[in-house]
Amino acid sequence: MNVSSWLTIAKRKIDALDAELILLNTVGEKDRSFLTLHDDRELTEEELKKANGFLERRASGEPLAYILGYKEFYGRDFLVAKGARSLVPRIETESIIEMVKALKLAPRKILDIGTGSGCIAITLKLENEEAEVLASDYSRDVLELAKENAKKLAADVKFIQSDLLDSIDGDFDLIVANLPYVDENWGWLDKEALAFEPKEALYAEDSGLYLVKKLILQAKGRTNYLILESDTSQQNEIIEYAKEFGFSLTQKDDFITVFETKP
Ligand SMILES: C[S@@+](CC[C@H](N)C(=O)[O-])C[C@H]1O[C@@H](n2cnc3c(N)ncnc32)[C@H](O)[C@@H]1O
Repeated sequence: MNVSSWLTIAKRKIDALDAELILLNTVGEKDRSFLTLHDDRELTEEELKKANGFLERRASGEPLAYILGYKEFYGRDFLVAKGARSLVPRIETESIIEMVKALKLAPRKILDIGTGSGCIAITLKLENEEAEVLASDYSRDVLELAKENAKKLAADVKFIQSDLLDSIDGDFDLIVANLPYVDENWGWLDKEALAFEPKEALYAEDSGLYLVKKLILQAKGRTNYLILESDTSQQNEIIEYAKEFGFSLTQKDDFITVFETKP
């Protein structure tokens, strides 16, 4: 079977772009022009087996990031499935990086809690070279993945295993956290779409706010800025709660809230 025929069949089963990315990965090419320039190239038996395996996995709902092993975040590729699986970095999380830039802080000490693949911490380090960046996660396995990403992207980030701030000393200019905040009972939740990602990276008690609220309590007096990701529906409650502990809102979009500690 050649490239063109495989793509025609695959595009009937899965998203067209995903089919193209699977085929490019299979033949070890990056440039999509390969698919048109070599549309009559015959696939070897081994390539066909690999591409069909990936196609079946994608057709069963597995995210492409886990099938290919990586996901792009802020223009860089992050491993998301090697040994452990991390949450697949989301596009909405990228605005944390933009919001840090907009603060015009030149932060010296940054802490990323619940680092997962390390995408936030590593990107903040690469975009703020002078900053000392510490990244933490509760999961030891996921930290190994984050360390590998830091090495691959030559980012000098330190890593620590910790339950929120429990094992972390010192104060920070900025703490960022995309913690689990999904409430299993949300009526609009597409549980099937999330079924391949680790539960402990997604779900939290107390309407999804258990960890976010606990972090706000712990971060009081330990940071000048606190940036949190959550669902839009949770933002008002988070803002009111954070206010009680001396954090005032400075910026927000649909998923990200930025707080400053009141003087
Ligand atoms: C929603 S994922 C975010 C991953 C990554 N920061 C991102 O934005 O793609 C949440 C991460 O928090 C970690 N986590 C869960 N509970 C935690 C806790 N109590 N303390 C620290 N990390 C925790 C999970 O292991 C997971 O990697």
